[in-house]
Amino acid sequence: MIPVNEPLLGEKDIAYVNECLQTGWISSAGRFINEFEDRWAAYCGKRYGIAVSNGTTALQVAVACLGLKPGDEVIMPTFTIISCALAVTCNGGIPVLVDCDPRNWCMDVSQIETKISPRTRAIMPVHIYGHPVDMDPVCRLAKKYGLAIIEDAAEVHGAEYLSGRDAQGSAWRRCGSFGTLSCFSFYANKLITTGEGGMVLTDDEALAEKVRSLRNLCFQPQRRFYHETLGFNFRLTNMQAALGVAQLERIAQIVERKRWMGHEYNRRLDGISELQLPYEESWAKSVYWMYGVVLSEDTGMDAVGFALRLKERGIETRPFFLGMHEQPVFHKQGLFHNEHYPVAERIARQGLYLPSGLSLTEEQLTKVCDAVREVLR
Ligand SMILES: Cc1ncc(COP(=O)(O)O)c(C=O)c1O
Repeated sequence: MIPVNEPLLGEKDIAYVNECLQTGWISSAGRFINEFEDRWAAYCGKRYGIAVSNGTTALQVAVACLGLKPGDEVIMPTFTIISCALAVTCNGGIPVLVDCDPRNWCMDVSQIETKISPRTRAIMPVHIYGHPVDMDPVCRLAKKYGLAIIEDAAEVHGAEYLSGRDAQGSAWRRCGSFGTLSCFSFYANKLITTGEGGMVLTDDEALAEKVRSLRNLCFQPQRRFYHETLGFNFRLTNMQAALGVAQLERIAQIVERKRWMGHEYNRRLDGISELQLPYEESWAKSVYWMYGVVLSEDTGMDAVGFALRLKERGIETRPFFLGMHEQPVFHKQGLFHNEHYPVAERIARQGLYLPSGLSLTEEQLTKVCDAVREVLR
């Protein structure tokens, strides 16, 4: 079976983790934590990095920093992972949804303004499957209405967005550089992986301090076991950070490999009329985190049927996200009843992603493409 993802670890990863084991720095103190935080923040174009236990907890602490009052709203795409919505609900807020763009599958930024209300506190753009959200309109709206941006960059390590394309002086900027608070996951299927892991980036010193405190049970520096606020234990270990540092040393190669994989899939699957392939906008440099395809209904097949047939041919796949408005858990909370987002609904049923891990060989990629063609013949 060709797996949908397999991490690719190298000599450096092993050497740095060994250093932790040999020196005894195995918990959440040690040189790799600070190094990982500083280097990741610098790579993404932010001042402060605060490493946390995973991408979900990164979103939870980032939203906690907003100090939402019950009923305050955060606008986000329906087409995303549940972590985004739960980060808002567990902080007492209400997720307000928009549909996604039919071409790049990221949030449809033209729908945001109609969803802004007096209760809106933030916008949460989520870059999807390696492709950036159109960030200029998001930033303009955030400025116009005084909203924070919680940028979810879990799936776009190293992806770039051409900011200011409508004006003179446009510039490529890395995803994760736009948020008031930007959140990352370093789960095993991400470009940079620490097994489990996450990070929050910000330019704001006070917010950085707040995230640091929340991640570490809100211990006070002067009086350790005295608490004025409740926090969490969302710490990352030095051993995990060691993996992050090792991989950051080769991030350019990792990004290049993923872009090669995306373009190679595009080239080989081009012309199959039953498939919609990932679209790279002129203002985006996607990292093709996961190579998604959307199957035409004309095949008489949905993504479940397609996945089954690919599995029979030794190809593992994953279905696309199911929109937040279709989640029973939120219906039980009285959210999103009778809301419909046709683009997200369609791609949730017809979309899946193909093997996309860094250890995928060219030979395996060829086999995947052959299997896809065979199923659709
Ligand atoms: C967009 C997005 N946000 C958040 C997360 C959550 O990250 P984690 O699995 O590290 O909790 C993921 C995980 O894949 C994700 O894709």
